[in-house]
Amino acid sequence: MTEKILVVDDEQDLLLVLDRSLTRKGYEVQCAESGKAAWKSIEETMFDLVISDLAMDDLNGLELLKRVRAADSTLPFIIMTGVGTIESAVDAIKLGAYQYITKPFKMRDIEVLTQRALEYGKLHRKLDSIRLHEEDDSSAEMIIGSSKSMQNLLRQVEKISDSDAPVLIQGETGTGKSLLAKKIHESSSRRDNPFQTIDCGSLKDTLLESELFGHVKGSFTGAIRAKRGLMEEAQGGTIFLDEISEITLQTQVKLLRAIQEKDIRPVGGNKSIPIDVRFISATNRNLKEETDNESFRKDLYYRLAVVPLYLPPLRDRKEDIPQLIEFLLEKYQKRYRKKISHIRSNVLHMLRNAPWKGNIRELANILERGVLLAENETLTLDCLFTAPDGIFDGEDKGRVVTLKDAVESAEINVIKNALESTENNRTQAARVLGISRRALYDKIAAYDLNL
Ligand SMILES: Nc1ncnc2c1ncn2[C@@H]1O[C@H](COP(=O)(O)OP(=O)(O)OP(=O)(O)O)[C@@H](O)[C@H]1O
Ligand SMILES: [Mg+2]
Repeated sequence: MTEKILVVDDEQDLLLVLDRSLTRKGYEVQCAESGKAAWKSIEETMFDLVISDLAMDDLNGLELLKRVRAADSTLPFIIMTGVGTIESAVDAIKLGAYQYITKPFKMRDIEVLTQRALEYGKLHRKLDSIRLHEEDDSSAEMIIGSSKSMQNLLRQVEKISDSDAPVLIQGETGTGKSLLAKKIHESSSRRDNPFQTIDCGSLKDTLLESELFGHVKGSFTGAIRAKRGLMEEAQGGTIFLDEISEITLQTQVKLLRAIQEKDIRPVGGNKSIPIDVRFISATNRNLKEETDNESFRKDLYYRLAVVPLYLPPLRDRKEDIPQLIEFLLEKYQKRYRKKISHIRSNVLHMLRNAPWKGNIRELANILERGVLLAENETLTLDCLFTAPDGIFDGEDKGRVVTLKDAVESAEINVIKNALESTENNRTQAARVLGISRRALYDKIAAYDLNL
């Protein structure tokens, strides 16, 4: 399928050059001479990429980007800027542009960037569709655990779910903290009201505060409109503060105030808004210890951890592994429409005894790969642990590559590009990628991408 690119610039000459060179590369190119014309085309046609000038009279590049983002979260957008407008270019990245390129540029550069942006868009859409798919599958939400420690935990959960007591969930990565938070909400009388999640690791200070508490118009650069905070959006329901250990001391003070006073003040505003929400937080650190070295406020800790819950690592509840395997295999067989009827005993043995540093998420990933790679109905060690060679060098055209591996190699590319284009600034790279810094660090480690 030919990929469609929309090129927007009020400079005819540049449009012509770009049209010619991208068409020669095999893309279908459409040109627009103004922001307004571009928006009209976008409303009519499904593009795979927009490359737009920044400064245009009627509707500039940033405004166009904003409109696009409101309608489509995955369409990649490249901004072209003249010299001296770098700051707006940075704004563009914040608004969700894939990348910016400074004029004048070499055709080769824009071609490479185009290719990467298209790849990025494809990956984004694929992940989105998998997620969508998953949401209507209610069995995906089940909590498996017949081990003693999980049964204890689940009994505790049953007792506290329907109270308004703040819950702090601690446990290693992948042990099911997010899943448990959702489950608590769903077993409470707040279940018909919203459940709002905020990843505290992905945003810093003002941005995090504005996400949480909202902001008034003009309270900081980029606050073009007043915005309601998630706490207000969660009214009557539950707010899930994920990676709570990541919030700065400044934000901790404000959060403490909100919990104590049961009201919030939007950033830049002076009117307070009463809130009725239940707080659930999660962290994979030992938060109590963080209060000892003063990176986390004690008073806030005690407010959040009225009910402390601990999810044990998978290696300490090996009894749960077979049941988890069964449950997860079921899920992936459905997802990929494949049938697995047997599993070799050495596989079971290995799965029971692996260290599972990534806990259930890691187990799930391995089984997902296994289902994809299985050639008959039997799950063998080979399908679990051997990645086909040659996936990453792009030389071996004849090989059949699975969806999972395709997604993984695309993900690796996208991460490498983001690191390259931000000169290895991981905070910026995470922002460009739209994931939390923690998630980026995890991925860098998982794929061994340390530059
Ligand atoms: N007890 C369980 N039964 C079934 N599936 C589970 C269970 N625990 C976790 N999972 C699944 O494992 C994956 C990881 O769980 P989850 O995202 O909740 O972990 P987490 O502790 O929040 O991880 P992180 O610290 O990285 O945010 C999810 O797909 C989740 O559905
Ligand atoms: Mg989580």
